[in-house]
Amino acid sequence: MKIIFQRNPPISSVRHEFHSACTSITPQFWLSNLNSFHNSLSINLKVNAGFQVICSSNLSSEEIMLKILNRRWTLMNPDTKIHQIKVSSLQTQQNFGSLGKKNTYSNNPHPSLGENIRKWHDDESSFYIVRDDLLHPLVNGNKARKLDALIPLVEDHLGTDVVTCGGCQSAHAAAVAVSCAERGLKAHLLLRGEQPQILTGYNLISMLYGSVTYVPRSIYANREELLSSHANSIGGSVVSLDDLLKASSNHNSMKSNFIDTEKEWSSNSKKTIIINEGAGDAIALPGLIRLVQYLSQDHILGKDQPLKIIVDAGTGTTAVGLGIGVLCLGLPWEVTAVMLADTTEGYKKKEQSLISELCRCFDLPMMHTGIVNWVERQHPRKFGNVLKGEIEACQQIAQETGVLVDPIYTLAGWELASQLSQEERKGGAKVVMLHTGGTLGMFGLAQRYKSYF
Ligand SMILES: Cc1ncc(COP(=O)(O)O)c(C=O)c1O
Repeated sequence: MKIIFQRNPPISSVRHEFHSACTSITPQFWLSNLNSFHNSLSINLKVNAGFQVICSSNLSSEEIMLKILNRRWTLMNPDTKIHQIKVSSLQTQQNFGSLGKKNTYSNNPHPSLGENIRKWHDDESSFYIVRDDLLHPLVNGNKARKLDALIPLVEDHLGTDVVTCGGCQSAHAAAVAVSCAERGLKAHLLLRGEQPQILTGYNLISMLYGSVTYVPRSIYANREELLSSHANSIGGSVVSLDDLLKASSNHNSMKSNFIDTEKEWSSNSKKTIIINEGAGDAIALPGLIRLVQYLSQDHILGKDQPLKIIVDAGTGTTAVGLGIGVLCLGLPWEVTAVMLADTTEGYKKKEQSLISELCRCFDLPMMHTGIVNWVERQHPRKFGNVLKGEIEACQQIAQETGVLVDPIYTLAGWELASQLSQEERKGGAKVVMLHTGGTLGMFGLAQRYKSYF
């Protein structure tokens, strides 16, 4: 029998017995049979159009969480800071003398949490912001969460090289390069387009920490083939993350087709791992589920208070990870994602495929889809475009609160969070925005949109 060697095996390798029975059923059937699912995964969601398949299981939500979270992590602990942003609406004089409204903000960096979240009443609107942008100088926000479980998986399987891809200013590519370099792994980054004359922002970080190849847009369009042919050109064996994950969960059965020879697993051979664009892989999800578990502790956000969690969506992986965490823990939270790079249909497909992949890889009962509320941005546009006035909006937020947001991603979350915070005052759920990082994105934008700065 072949064995997967692990540098640092997880603390315990408990395998749980469970029985699953997959059925395609209607929401009505499911609701009327809710009681019969007692002792199984607790599901606490409103039923919507995305709701498709449920499989019952004898696994409790604790067992499911254990299956997903019992692993080695990159972050020593999942802790993060939470600030409270107060939002005030001011009447302003606009062009041609008409009156308009403008928000101003202030930041309370030490808000009372736990029980006090429920008690807190004020005349002002406010939202909480999870400051994941402060996790690391270069690997922060959702990048840190996505790589939290991913990098140890690569290490455990003796990966030597990693290949990934992204835009020229990809925060993901830079985060992979930095994380790999910190662990003695080699990162190969395939960046879309031509090399800029002057490197800056994430592009500069990618060049400093990784091995960058610029790829013409026409070739980049077929990313899957690009990743795999580049990985093959490095030499040694090539493995996808999903295969690694499946091998970790199935290491008894050893059915994985990538474990061809013992030689491939020897510690001195090259092994290249492919990470999809934006780490849109199932192994990116546990880090976000871990974050939800952290936030749901009684002394932080608690488990009983209805909350609206706001996040910006590129591939949508971060939002889906949060949604799964909320589902598994049975929290009365709703994850709302601002769509930036795809259509509702595209995001729903991504949600479905990530959930299926996670359940397959972790040997879990299928969960249903429809766990994320996908919404349009206030001012929709082609992905990556910046509209007039948005740099000034980021500047205002930075100067009033000390929080840096960027117009491509985090400003979209901020706008929605401040809009919803006004509804919260009228009795809506409390609003919590996840800062997804991307701080250095501004450097690339200053280069691209010179006239705006
Ligand atoms: C700052 C920032 N926010 C959000 C996202 C989108 O995250 P996701 O692809 O998981 O939706 C990205 C992309 O990686 C990003 O760089």
